[in-house]
Amino acid sequence: MAFREFPEGFIWGVATSSYQIEGAWNEDGKGESIWDRFCHQPNRVASGDTGDVACDHYHRWVEDVALLKALNARAYRFSISWPRVMPEGKGKPNPKGLSFYQRLVDALLEAGIIPFVNLYHWDLPQVLQETGGWPNRDTVERFVEYADLMFETLGDRAPYWITFNEPWVISFLGYADGMMAPGICDYTQAYQTAHHLLLAHGKTVQAFRERGNRGSKIGIVLNVEYPAPETDSPADRDACQRFLEQYVSLFADPLFKGQYPQMLMDWIGPMAPKIAPDDMKVIHTPMDFMGMNYYTARWVRYSPAGHLKAFVSPRTMPMSGYTEMGWGIYPAGLTAMLLHYHENYGRDLPPMFLSENGCAARDVPDENGVVADWERIAYLRSHFLAASDAIRAGVDLRGYFVWSLLDNFEWAEGYRPRFGLVRVDYKTQRRIPKKSFEWYRQVIVDNGLWE
Ligand code: FCB
Repeated sequence: MAFREFPEGFIWGVATSSYQIEGAWNEDGKGESIWDRFCHQPNRVASGDTGDVACDHYHRWVEDVALLKALNARAYRFSISWPRVMPEGKGKPNPKGLSFYQRLVDALLEAGIIPFVNLYHWDLPQVLQETGGWPNRDTVERFVEYADLMFETLGDRAPYWITFNEPWVISFLGYADGMMAPGICDYTQAYQTAHHLLLAHGKTVQAFRERGNRGSKIGIVLNVEYPAPETDSPADRDACQRFLEQYVSLFADPLFKGQYPQMLMDWIGPMAPKIAPDDMKVIHTPMDFMGMNYYTARWVRYSPAGHLKAFVSPRTMPMSGYTEMGWGIYPAGLTAMLLHYHENYGRDLPPMFLSENGCAARDVPDENGVVADWERIAYLRSHFLAASDAIRAGVDLRGYFVWSLLDNFEWAEGYRPRFGLVRVDYKTQRRIPKKSFEWYRQVIVDNGLWE
């Protein structure tokens, strides 16, 4: 047994997002978001669950910061609800919303926890969806205006900023699959959304630099799944390549190389996004770090049936198990994807963070509500070691954020899947740290773990 130590100063943290934990959906002047609207429609979310109350974090944030402190977390990644601070999506800010985030950031700093401020975790103001949402180029300008308001408000104290969480999910689950808000099924809109998110990211990075950011850093968070061809046939290998382009290169190539992957663009033909002169240059603006979210892996096989989704095989990989989401457990995929970035983008790639990783587990509470979540501990353990493998292979990985601090609203799946290190009893809002909380705390204290 060897002890795997992480690099000195490695940033261990946890992540959450506004809609999944805050609740208070219509309090203190907050505007409606596309997720409020989506959840209030019938048959969108499992069991009719909504984020109206969620973990009531808006009222219980003091207790939640105390939990972060008890965990010994070095960093906390959370998101700002755009409609809470700018209810109309533009123009007049909401002082009560701004003050909520000011108090939160101050309390984190006071507790010695580094805030990672994420500007967008999917809750677009509904008013902006009514003018076309992300496929409308105007939304790009609205976003930069909102981002600038947050730089103005928190720029003097927040050292790390994230423009977008998972543009792939926003584009394809929101605008092509309709599984997530705003629930639209149109690939052309989805590709245009992807382009506008990238453009909004580039413009925001430029606005951030113009403010003279005094050593603070800005980046983006991209999600990946590790794909492997189901057989060695050229057709399956091509399909796998296309899957990688659709998931990874569609976003990473413009960000780090200043161009879209040509094979993918040719293949999608008329669905390809409209690009104005200079857009690619703006998107290519250098950033300070990149976050990668990793949960699972899958086989890919060729299908003559056509559409992108047809390339994903229903067969599963030889996983070491499945989480409560039904996602295959495949830690080697985490190492492989970090190396994929490292090898493909080389010197254009900024330092990386594992910005989300974790699992929904069975989580059976005992009579005191305590959860001995060995499955979660095993999952995290194997993925921490996989990250350490990548560091040994040369990846410049600076930190790791476990998803999530609390059980919370898991989007279209509602409250059934529980991802937290802390159990939330939704009836009483009582927080009960699970075994994994104690275990992770020790990893943080030791800056590493035994193999
Ligand atoms: C990611 C999301 C996060 C959470 C996890 C399980 O895709 O960014 O909000 O739902 O999945």
